[in-house]
Amino acid sequence: MDKQKKTILVTGGCGYIGSHTIIDLLDKGYEVVSVDNLVNSTEDSLDRIEAVTGRRVVNERIDLCDFDALRQMFERYPEVSGVVHFAALKSVGESVQQPLRYYENNITGLVNLLRCVREFEVREFVFSSSCSVYGNAEKLPVTEETPLQEAESPYGRTKQMGEDICRDFVAACPEHRCVLLRYFNPAGAHESGLIGEAPGKEPENLVPIIMDAALGVRREVVVFGDDYPTRDGSCIRDYIHIMDLAEAHSLALAFAAKAPAGSCEVFNVGSGTGTTVLEAIAAFERSTGVKLPWRIGPRRPGDVVAIYANYDKAARLLGWQPRRSMDDIMRTAWAWARRWRKD
Ligand SMILES: NC(=O)c1ccc[n+]([C@@H]2O[C@H](COP(=O)([O-])OP(=O)(O)OC[C@H]3O[C@@H](n4cnc5c(N)ncnc54)[C@H](O)[C@@H]3O)[C@@H](O)[C@H]2O)c1
Repeated sequence: MDKQKKTILVTGGCGYIGSHTIIDLLDKGYEVVSVDNLVNSTEDSLDRIEAVTGRRVVNERIDLCDFDALRQMFERYPEVSGVVHFAALKSVGESVQQPLRYYENNITGLVNLLRCVREFEVREFVFSSSCSVYGNAEKLPVTEETPLQEAESPYGRTKQMGEDICRDFVAACPEHRCVLLRYFNPAGAHESGLIGEAPGKEPENLVPIIMDAALGVRREVVVFGDDYPTRDGSCIRDYIHIMDLAEAHSLALAFAAKAPAGSCEVFNVGSGTGTTVLEAIAAFERSTGVKLPWRIGPRRPGDVVAIYANYDKAARLLGWQPRRSMDDIMRTAWAWARRWRKD
């Protein structure tokens, strides 16, 4: 079995974070195979990756819940030496309505994947986790040592359970190494403007909502509450540029390759800066020159007041640094949003 070529299997490679990470992996010299059942994406992402990199990535259209199909796919790619596992359903609200669908997809998918990883001796595994595991943390910024709160939704619980499953797996199979990346709020697009976040039916995240309001696809941005105990009363989040986040995965794979067998390390991947909703709106207007329609609305149930990352551990052990600003996020997201609407 040839493990020299460093071929990485990216699950969810046609999705937002997966497709941008593939660009960075190709740039760093990895070969990539994607597996994505396209439940929340299209293979247009592969065209966009090709437009940016000049490289065509193959997507295997397989549902991770279909163990036999997944296993056969691993048989076809014996050169795979690492997995970056993005594929999951991610809507908090939908997960409250359809908890079993979320548990089945996110948990069965992960377990099937780890069964294959063990059988085919794929040693390096990177898992997409989320800062939502911290809930309403008492002390900010949060470090990896900050105690986790009870998850607010079935989606959040699949992330906490996913982390535990990875830990238990490497404890039992110590020839493997795992990296858990807790993403803060990924946003923005590739600098080329050729690829970005494909607009969903009902975006739930602030930056896509801002783009829709600026394009006139929605009437306005509603700021959910201006009476929180923050500097301007709106909630604080940590927005991390998608290409900074993408780079963290390439570094995580390099780290896993050298990490002691049986290790399972967790890293915060955030900018380290808390931005209020009103500051995000101001950043959009400043960096694009476009005036945004917005108004204050009531608080949204389940929103944490404030969260932002301490990323010292990622800086120290992965050699990772966020390099792009909030203005870069808004500028690149806007370039992509306008292009997408035109296409
Ligand atoms: N975007 C965020 O704000 C955010 C924040 C924290 C964590 N995450 C996590 O990062 C990962 C990637 O998120 P994203 O924003 O790129 O989401 P996305 O929906 O754009 O991408 C996920 C991809 O996985 C695929 N997929 C889902 N279930 C599958 C299955 N059973 N088999 C095969 N493919 C399947 C979808 O078709 C989609 O292309 C997810 O695990 C998500 O929970 C995202």
